[in-house]
Formats: sequence, structure tokens, C-alpha cells
Amino acid sequence: MGKHVYLQTYGCQMNERDSEEILGMLTAQGYSVVAREAEADVILLNTCSVREHAEARAFGKMGALQRLKGERPDVVLGVLGCMAKAQREEVFRRLPLVDLVAGPAEIYDLPDLLARVAERRQRAAAEEPARLLAVDRPVRPLEKKPAGDYRARPITAFVTIMEGCDKTCAYCIVPMTRGQEVSRPLGEVLEEVERLARAGYRQVTLLGQNVNAYGKRFPDGSGYLGPGRRERLLVEEAAAAEAAGARVVDFPVLLRQIDARTSIPRVRFTTSHPFDAHERLFRAMAECRAVCESLHLPVQSGSDRVLRRMRRGYTVASYLAKVARLRELVPDVALSTDIIVGFPGETPEDFEATRALVADVEYDGAFIFKYSARPGTEAAGWGDDVPRAVKEARHRALLELQEAISRRKLERWVGHEVEVLLEERNRRGQLAGHTRGNLNVVCDGPDARIGELVPVRIERVTPTTMIGVVA
Ligand code: SAH
Ligand code: SF4
Ligand code: F3S
Repeated sequence: MGKHVYLQTYGCQMNERDSEEILGMLTAQGYSVVAREAEADVILLNTCSVREHAEARAFGKMGALQRLKGERPDVVLGVLGCMAKAQREEVFRRLPLVDLVAGPAEIYDLPDLLARVAERRQRAAAEEPARLLAVDRPVRPLEKKPAGDYRARPITAFVTIMEGCDKTCAYCIVPMTRGQEVSRPLGEVLEEVERLARAGYRQVTLLGQNVNAYGKRFPDGSGYLGPGRRERLLVEEAAAAEAAGARVVDFPVLLRQIDARTSIPRVRFTTSHPFDAHERLFRAMAECRAVCESLHLPVQSGSDRVLRRMRRGYTVASYLAKVARLRELVPDVALSTDIIVGFPGETPEDFEATRALVADVEYDGAFIFKYSARPGTEAAGWGDDVPRAVKEARHRALLELQEAISRRKLERWVGHEVEVLLEERNRRGQLAGHTRGNLNVVCDGPDARIGELVPVRIERVTPTTMIGVVA
């Protein structure tokens, strides 16, 4: 009888893609994927450590799953993902019935770990515990990418182009959980995108913690030219390098190659760190038909003092200058951001500066987070001094401001036609999809249209969604 695996994912899109890779490996080995824990022989949580709340949820969930093991001792429990890296020992200490722990760099070791857990259990004289900690890897060995392909949904797909993060944002755990930056070769990315296009996918989202650093460690030096060089220089340098016959394979080149050499109609990407987002990126966005007019450019704070302490490497003025230049080159671009409120030492004036920036930029969408101290990060040593009630008030104020802005921006589309990729039938029975700017659109229509790019005339809007008819 084949084995059954249940996998629950927390955290970001990179984790969602990792979960697909994990299920790809396991299904290639004969496992089938089940939607309920009770039906599974192997239960895995792919966890997130970015805020305390994310960890608390995974600890709580696995605690509950341990009780299941009381009834079915043969079930295998595994903790994967960022928490498995950031809290390795803590996971076994607090969750003694967990069998295996493997971080993001170690996902390709999973089939081997599962085999070893089974083997240890067979040895009746269990003098060594069945539980296993994956060998600690500094980076994911991309050259060992295993066989198997599994995608959680049709029409839109994630494509990981790089792993890890070399930045040192003072609040952030990700560089500790995902290790150093490493990029997939251009040819492999192109091949995957084209394979997806041929299989009927209509959109890829290129994933990396800082996609603008794509190629940084390519051994032939063809990758990312930065950081720290002036933007105009980057444009001229790249042109000069190419004119001299040198190969440049950085992120803007990757976008251009996907646009020119694959048949995928829509390309998105995330995340762009503002420090490394520059003129060449904006020009590639403007000139590549497949690349959607949409950029997630997390600002984190509108106060220079806070940005400096966060070690983000840009100022409000330099960020705004990039936004202005982007809007010049890509007039209809949809902009979104991440913001942290209540960073250590954030004063009322700092917060007002953030509020002013949000009002000024008029983002199409914003993810607003309350600061959460992450053990081992630089900022964790500074004390978490903004009281919870103040964080909550600032969070609420920004949410309300952004909601009003988003709604106003959506209303501007009423009466206009937009290009929508129809992706699925939603729970209300409507066809649902997104504009090139990543706005939600619903309309009526037959199933046969799912996967099509259609013009939709917008008739009305809710706070988050546009409602229209296929034109
Ligand atoms: N690589 C991406 C972000 C990854 S984490 C980038 O640089 O934009 C996603 C978001 O979580 C961050 O942009 C930040 O806004 C938020 N975040 C990260 N660490 C946090 C912390 N300790 N507390 C609260 N929010 C945090
Ligand atoms: Fe974290 Fe900064 Fe890296 Fe983003 S760029 S993952 S916020 S360290
Ligand atoms: Fe969380 Fe890891 Fe992503 S900490 S946000 S799952 S990179």
C-alpha cells in the first residue's frame, strides 16, 4: 500500500513553492498527497519564523498533532522550513514526538531522512531515538534538484530563481533561516518557464528574497553588477559590458530573456529590495510585454532614522526618487509595499513620517506588520520598547489609511476595460482572476474560459475586488 503525506504550509510564497517541491519529490517516490491529517502516514509542517505569531501557530499545530501520535504511533511527524532552522533544538525540546527536522536548505534531504526514520524504527532495540536532525547546510544545493514536479494550482505557477538572502536588515530572521544567496542558472529558469507555458500555465511568479541580486554568485561573474554602484553607471556599465562581448546575466536580463525566448504570457516577480531596484529593472519592465506592470517594493518605514537603524541602505528621498522614475517609465505600474510599525525606538514623529509616505506614494496595496523581536537578530538586542497598544493603534491607523487609498484607486477603473487572466471559479461561482497590476477581478462566464486573458469592463468595486463583465 502506498504511503500518504499531509503537508501544511506557513509563511511566504517561497515556502509555498518549497512545499510544492517537497510534494514533487515525495509523489515521485510513490507517496500520494492527502488533504486531512487523519489519512496520512507522514505529516509535515513547512514553517515560518518571520514573526513570533507564525512560530506560535506552528508550535500549537504540531502540539495537537502529537496527540494523534498517541493513537497512531507509526505516524511520522516532521517540522520543515524556516522554524526548523531557527529553532532546531527548541522544536525537539518542546515537541518530543517530532521525528525529523529539516530547514529550507535541507529540503532535498527529506526522502533520505524519511527512509532513515523508517529504518531506525525497524531496529527494535531502540537505543537511539528515531528522531533526526538534518545535516545543517549553509545553502541549498541547487545542483541536486531532485526529480518530480507538483503544482498546487493550474494557470499560475511559482518559479524559484534564487534562494537565501545576503542582506542584514536588523529585524529579520530570513538570512539565518535561508542562508546565503544562490541563483539558479539562466538556462534552467528558461527551461522551467517554457515547460510550464507548454503545460497550460499562463503566468509565472519569479521568486527570491531579493530577486534584484539574481546571479550575484555566478562563477563566471556574469551576474548582478551591484551593489552600491550608481544607477546610471549600472545602465552604462551593462551596455558597455555587452558591447564588449561580455555576458551579463542579471535580473533585468533574465526578464528580457523570458520575454523573448519563452511563450509565457505573464511574468511577475517578488521581492525587489529597493536598494537593488534600479533603472535597468524599470526599463526591462517597460519594454517586456510579458512582464506585468506591477512592483512590490517594500519600504518598511517612512522615517530615515528608522530606515538607518533597520539597515535598509536607502533613504526616503532615494526611495521616492526610484518610485518617481519607475512611474515615468511604466506609467500604469501598480505598487505595493511592506511596512513594519513599532520597530524599536520608533517615535510618534517616525510613525507620522511613515503615514505621510503612505499617503504620498498611494500604494495599490500594503502589508502592514507589527514589529516582532526575533531571537538572534540585531534588533532583538535593542529591546522591544514600543508598547503593544501603541503598535496596535499604529497598525490600525495605517490599515485604515491604506484601505481608503486602495478603494479610491479601484474606483478609478469603473467604466474602463482591463485585461484579466481568468484563474479559477471562486466559492461564489464567479470566474476570478487578476489584472496586470494584480488587482482582483470577478465576472460571470463558462469554465472553458479559465486560463484565458480576456478584456473585462469594470462595473463596480468592493473594498478589495472589481466586478465586471467580459467585454
Ligand atoms: N525579502 C523580503 C521580505 C521577506 S519577510 C524583503 O526584503 O522585502 C516579509 C516582510 O515581513 C518584510 O518585508 C517585513 O515587512 C516583515 N518582517 C520581517 N521581519 C519582521 C519582524 N521581525 N517583525 C515584523 N515584521 C517583519
Ligand atoms: Fe529579510 Fe531584509 Fe533579506 Fe528581506 S532583504 S529577507 S527583509 S534580511
Ligand atoms: Fe517565513 Fe521563511 Fe518566508 S521566515 S516569510 S517562510 S523565508
